[in-house]
Amino acid sequence: MAPASTAPIEVAPGCLWWPGWLDRAGQEALAEDIRQVLAQAPLFTPRMPRTGKPFSVRMSNCGPLGWVSDQTGYRYQPTHPETGQPWPPFPDVLKRAWRELAREFAGTALAPEACLINWYAPGARMGLHQDRDEQEFRAPVLSLSLGDTALFRVGGAARSDPTRSIRLVSGDALLLSGPSRLAFHGIDRILPDSSTLLRQPGRINLTLRRVRPAEDGEILPI
Ligand code: SIN
Ligand code: MN
Repeated sequence: MAPASTAPIEVAPGCLWWPGWLDRAGQEALAEDIRQVLAQAPLFTPRMPRTGKPFSVRMSNCGPLGWVSDQTGYRYQPTHPETGQPWPPFPDVLKRAWRELAREFAGTALAPEACLINWYAPGARMGLHQDRDEQEFRAPVLSLSLGDTALFRVGGAARSDPTRSIRLVSGDALLLSGPSRLAFHGIDRILPDSSTLLRQPGRINLTLRRVRPAEDGEILPI
């Protein structure tokens, strides 16, 4: 694992990228953690508000809150939409990633509250969007990638801003912070057979988010 002080690549102001933040052993351990989370909180198919059209990505969450989407809208909630059970806790490595990257490089004192788990089968994609269902934009969004490489597109805070594309590889970490916190981003496609990490072709992306506003004097409890 790269030491916390490793300088990231600044893709855009506040959009920081650490290629290979997790080494192979770290990726295998995290993949196993996620298998255990998914055994408790199975992947579900999110649907677009109003139309009910299914996403191509399947999702789950860990942490106190989870992001869900169905015909009634996007929201964070403390329980799985199908099982009704609380989301499993964060694996330790996610808490460490938040401390070493979000706290160190974006200066946040706030703890994460949700980790969205996205499963991209080959052919899945995610359209350009902003992460704006949170009530607290001072904290960054921290992403970790496992499995097949993704073409990740990131632009600015306006949909019409120019975008650039980078390849997010298994083990990479990426922070959307400061001027990039509300940057439009998405996944154009997954490159087939680009990783041997997972037992089936595809990609896992984990995004750690702070959801609720800070309480007075709150400091990071992890
Ligand atoms: C997301 O925007 O929720 C996921 C981004 C990614 O898959 O890298
Ligand atoms: Mn997003």
